[in-house]
Amino acid sequence: MTRRVAILISGGGSNMLALLRDMAAGDHPALPVLVASNDPKAAGLAKAAALGVATAAVDHRPYGGDRAAFEAALLQPILEAGADLVCLAGFMRVLTPGFVDRFAGRMLNIHPSLLPLYPGLHTHRRALEAGDAEAGCTVHEVTPVLDDGPILGQARVPILAGDTAETLAARVLVQEHRLYPAVLRRFAAGDRTPLFL
Ligand code: GAR
Repeated sequence: MTRRVAILISGGGSNMLALLRDMAAGDHPALPVLVASNDPKAAGLAKAAALGVATAAVDHRPYGGDRAAFEAALLQPILEAGADLVCLAGFMRVLTPGFVDRFAGRMLNIHPSLLPLYPGLHTHRRALEAGDAEAGCTVHEVTPVLDDGPILGQARVPILAGDTAETLAARVLVQEHRLYPAVLRRFAAGDRTPLFL
């Protein structure tokens, strides 16, 4: 059975593109049915549309602090597209348990650290400040706890002398683009064994 994937983004969508390109490469257990963003200006929306993927923008700002109402609006295009898997790819809104539970075991996220280290923001700066020798990225199942949930894959990079948060982020991002498509392929085929690149 082909899985139907919705990808949620907030920005440029380079991870989204990596996923879309891999799904278009053929012999893939999943099909992209929607790219949705909480930011109508997210650059990734146009990139997805250019590849022929349906898009939706649900601006979170008019909802103020009412996360549940925002999520109800976001859920609509996802359900209309018939998505049964959700991939968060640089999606920068915290989701409530109500939304997460709806996709329990069917929602993935990529996070730019070696979880359980550095959940939340500014991961690269925190790794540098801690004097770590390496950094990386993690794909995990989404649970109601932020940047938690079973780890599905990790890729590591060295931290080099003279690294800044920006140079480190760029090195990690290269690995994100390898890791996320590889994990989605396995996950959509029913394989939840962690992948370590
Ligand atoms: C990526 O580095 C991703 O890991 C990170 O945002 C960037 C999005 O880039 N995600 C988070 O920090 C999630 N909390 P992209 O839009 O080019 O894929």
